[in-house]
Amino acid sequence: MNLDAHSVPVLTIDGPSGAGKGTICRMVAQATGFSLLDSGALYRLTALACLNGNIDLMSEVLAAEQAECLDVAFKVVGDGTQVLLSGEDVGSIIREERVGMAASKIAAYPKLRAALLDRQRAFRAEPGLVADGRDMGTVVFPDATSKIFLTASADARAHRRVSQLVSLGQAADFEKILADIVARDKQDTSRASAPLIAADDALIVDCTSLSIQQVFDAVMETLPSCQPCL
Ligand code: C5P
Repeated sequence: MNLDAHSVPVLTIDGPSGAGKGTICRMVAQATGFSLLDSGALYRLTALACLNGNIDLMSEVLAAEQAECLDVAFKVVGDGTQVLLSGEDVGSIIREERVGMAASKIAAYPKLRAALLDRQRAFRAEPGLVADGRDMGTVVFPDATSKIFLTASADARAHRRVSQLVSLGQAADFEKILADIVARDKQDTSRASAPLIAADDALIVDCTSLSIQQVFDAVMETLPSCQPCL
């Protein structure tokens, strides 16, 4: 256990869906040796647990109960990470849009967010953490060493998603993807509890016309160069 978690460096990367947070977080984790918190996966896992258990998504109490007793494990296998829900590998299922939308719906519940708070903070351990989400810099790690708010236009995010699906040989309907992105942005920014918003002390990076390498360089520049692993 980490007895002095607050001295452990944390880099938070918040922003809307499809901005490329996951890619940049993985690159930073690889370059620094920091561990990675994909907080969205916890909301998606809770949503999947609700869907599997036919839990009414309109019930804050029932959804929060699922978050409290969530049986999850992140298992490193080769280059990737397996995501297990009650022992079952659900890595692909939680990426489905229906799960993302359900996650966004239940993520508005303060009781559910509170139930996931300690679980997220427990990821903070030496040599450091890179945390991907919506409220990493504002709520979960307000004392983070470095905070980024990564954004891009909804159009650019939809185009990237289309290219991603096409490269996987999957069908992609641009208009539908754009509409889903706009709907999720609205849901995430308008909720009362921990809305998607940049922390006052975050560096805002608009990557609409930046390459992945340019974003990565900008993010790495915010980390103190005294990190032992840099
Ligand atoms: O990042 P990802 O798309 O996997 O997140 C799924 C949903 O979970 C988001 O749309 C958002 O509503 C919610 N979420 C959140 N706070 C976080 C991470 C994700 O509310 N820190």
